[in-house]
Amino acid sequence: MSKQPGFATKAIHTGQQADPATGAVTVPIYATSTYVQEEIGKHKGYEYARVSNPTRDRLETNLAALETGAAAKVFASGMAAINAIASLLKSGDHVIAGHNLYGGTPRLFNTVLSNFGMEFTYVNTSDAANVAEAIRKNTRLVFLETPTNPLMELCDIRAISDLCHQRGVEVVVDNTFMSPYFQRPIELGADMVVHSTTKFLNGHSDGLGGVVVCTKSEQAERLAYLQKAAGAILSPFECWLILRGVKTLAVRMLQHDGNGRKVAEFLSKHKKVERVFYPGLPDHPQHELAKRQMSGFGAMIAFETGSLADANKMLRKVRVCSLGESLGGVETLISHPATMTHAAVGEEGRRKIGITEGMVRISVGIEDIEDILADLDQALAAI
Ligand SMILES: Cc1ncc(COP(=O)(O)O)c(C=O)c1O
Repeated sequence: MSKQPGFATKAIHTGQQADPATGAVTVPIYATSTYVQEEIGKHKGYEYARVSNPTRDRLETNLAALETGAAAKVFASGMAAINAIASLLKSGDHVIAGHNLYGGTPRLFNTVLSNFGMEFTYVNTSDAANVAEAIRKNTRLVFLETPTNPLMELCDIRAISDLCHQRGVEVVVDNTFMSPYFQRPIELGADMVVHSTTKFLNGHSDGLGGVVVCTKSEQAERLAYLQKAAGAILSPFECWLILRGVKTLAVRMLQHDGNGRKVAEFLSKHKKVERVFYPGLPDHPQHELAKRQMSGFGAMIAFETGSLADANKMLRKVRVCSLGESLGGVETLISHPATMTHAAVGEEGRRKIGITEGMVRISVGIEDIEDILADLDQALAAI
């Protein structure tokens, strides 16, 4: 083939080739902790499962291709992947992070990593100038989420990468919300991409995992070393779940996006909804950037019901939508950021960035759109 395969072809075939031993069309789960050696130092490239596993290798090959990176390394959860990135740094290093990240990320930074002498500054990364202003001599990394969780603010990945590279600072993008189907940060200049594979990459709400996709061989070597040295690796079964889930990523994302646009439009016209946060709506302040940087708008939407009491009234009534944490599954998941994903940020922290008690976040699934809309309509009638 002279032409590069398309995204869906890569998702189904890269790293997913038939098993050479048996011809099994699906990658086998290598449930083994160790590997027999023929003689001292003579083996087939595998020695111990914390260091490497064939099912894991296949997944890492697949995810590196989808994010157009040099290599990928998978970890036990999205947080373990983010922790691995932070472990590339050392005491005294400074990190600039978005002020509106998934709550678990600042929790790791502020309550764990800052004890080891790392410094963190949070800025509104939707304006690249704020990032430029926060860069210090010891700044090593800028950590971004775009769109942000749950306010759906965007960061201009290309502009931030350009200004960071001029100052020798690396850029990491948490691409969990968009998946590489709709946004590929490395093509826009990012140095590393991280995902909670728990979300769209797996897509079926049945496994936890994380991945770091990097662009340089030194990063890949160091991340592989961290898998071996710290041991927060992803199990072969969880790797297999993602290998299976990712085969349908392209079709799922198209359906998530189609449903997402319709739900956003419905909510924006609903009289009980005060405000909708979705980059696909023409009145989103960064709608033009969304069109430029992403090839779809995705399925993540936040909206304002007015108060905690109203949010609760509505959330008690949902039937097709499931009230719960997480996102990116085939089922529509609805959540309350102030008490769930962003509880760890604290009341003052939430107030500063604009997360209210009446805010509800929805991860639109791929059920029939009529059923999702009817469910939201009847639940909103409770307000
Ligand atoms: C954007 C984002 N990044 C990272 C994480 C952490 O991933 P995990 O729950 O797989 O550890 C989450 C979890 O919700 C998330 O939403």
